[in-house]
Amino acid sequence: MKKTIAVTPKKKPIPRHLAIIMDGNGRWAKKRGLSRLKGHRAGVKNLRPIIKYMHDKGVKYVTLYAFSTENWNRPEGEVNGLFHILEEIIGKESKELKKYGVRIHHIGSIKGFSSKLKKSISEALELTKDNSDMHLGVALNYGGRAEILNAVKGMIADGTQPNKVNENTFKKYLYAPDFPDVDLVIRTGGEMRISNLLIWQTAYSEYYFTPVLWPDFGVEELEEALTAYSQRQRRFGGLQPK
Ligand code: IPE
Ligand code: IPE
Ligand code: MG
Repeated sequence: MKKTIAVTPKKKPIPRHLAIIMDGNGRWAKKRGLSRLKGHRAGVKNLRPIIKYMHDKGVKYVTLYAFSTENWNRPEGEVNGLFHILEEIIGKESKELKKYGVRIHHIGSIKGFSSKLKKSISEALELTKDNSDMHLGVALNYGGRAEILNAVKGMIADGTQPNKVNENTFKKYLYAPDFPDVDLVIRTGGEMRISNLLIWQTAYSEYYFTPVLWPDFGVEELEEALTAYSQRQRRFGGLQPK
């Protein structure tokens, strides 16, 4: 008699750490004859369903790139307006996120922030600190090179001996030492670059680029990105997919 082996369908791999470069707000606004700040508002509005979806899918760590160290090169009015929008949304959304178990982390430096923005960030961190369903890193005033330099400075300040410097000891000095390496980076807006995001943590990431502008990026697009990710073969330098 022929033996039948029950095969349980393999679960689609889900990224453990997903990072999103939310690009294209300015172009989205321009296309509609609106100000760039209106574009940023639309971008921020887009976040709620996306975060909810990632949470429901079981993504454990998410990093959202909100403002890079290079974004200080923008006109003062845009920078201030953007910070104002972020301050508002952090305050409002943190209460919602607390409800479904999301812990908010700030990834980057608070140098140069207004006291109001600093307050809104520290309140959000405090409010959600006991959550662990999903970790949401907000990369705000974040630069990958600045993070690496900051880590090096920290190690030197602690008197770390050269023979103690390895990937594990170094990692402890990063802004979010408990976040694992990034599995998938999604960049909206059509550019195909990393723009200084998590350059240490993305050494072996998968990338997904889409021309869709961030305010138009919905859960259907996110689902597509996750499907593409699930079909990638990750070998980490070896011969067998891992
Ligand atoms: C991304 O949108 C948001 C930030 C960088 C803060 P952009 O503002 O870069 O939008 P584009 O690239 O000009 O369209
Ligand atoms: C990357 O977008 C940073 C964020 C999305 C926060 P940018 O629009 O600043 O990137 P570049 O300048 O096109 O590389
Ligand atoms: Mg841009």
